[in-house]
Amino acid sequence: MSLPLWNAVDTYFSQVLLVPDPALDATLAASAAAGLPAIHVAPNQGKLLHLFARMIGAKRVLEVGTLGGYSTLWLARALPAEGRVITLEADAKHAAVARANFAHAGLAEQIELREGRALDILPELVASDVASFDLVFIDADKPSNPDYFEWALRLTHRGSLIIVDNVVREGAVVDATSTEPAVVGVRRLMERVAAEPRVSATALQTVGAKGYDGFLIAMVIADA
Ligand code: SAH
Ligand code: DHB
Ligand code: MG
Repeated sequence: MSLPLWNAVDTYFSQVLLVPDPALDATLAASAAAGLPAIHVAPNQGKLLHLFARMIGAKRVLEVGTLGGYSTLWLARALPAEGRVITLEADAKHAAVARANFAHAGLAEQIELREGRALDILPELVASDVASFDLVFIDADKPSNPDYFEWALRLTHRGSLIIVDNVVREGAVVDATSTEPAVVGVRRLMERVAAEPRVSATALQTVGAKGYDGFLIAMVIADA
């Protein structure tokens, strides 16, 4: 589901409001050339993530699901010089493309890509007592969303943001009878978030270059 007008408005907003960034454009070009699926966030969505990070003065960001590193770069660009992004990617080819993109953007020092399945790496991060994250962006396999949220809670602090991509899926999220694993994952995530007193959350529908989808935005409002 998409409308040509959604695309046109996205293009207009991105052209009029977003400062051209050759490294971000090069990342999309290199990702497409390498045959990666075009399932990255739209430019104006990337800028939204960037602004969220700046609004909370984020210094440490965790991303689950790197692909070619497009959203990673938007987030990294929001951080002060000493800021760091850790991004998790299971697919070796995606990881290789992303690493090259980070180097090309001059951000290889600020971005640490950990290759492997997120549900293997997240417990390692907790076990290694990694410093808490100010913002977590969850954008990998949708059935694991409830688990990713659980780990995100353990890796954040009061004031952190936890943002989850693709929570609308062309409206499929309202179907309580759906057996599609991605929809079940999103609905279980919603119930888990709703029942969690440590967060305050909302969700928004988006239309545009990436079709009809949306974000969950949860703020951690209490200490563990
Ligand atoms: N955040 C990116 C898009 C990510 S697409 C952007 O907006 O630019 C989802 C990514 O999650 C894919 O690259 C996929 O390989 C990865 N992924 C899927 N399952 C995963 C898992 N279990 N652990 C880590 N990464 C996973
Ligand atoms: C898919 C994954 C995404 O993260 C996204 O933004 C769009 C689509 C997918 O797996 O189809
Ligand atoms: Mg996504």
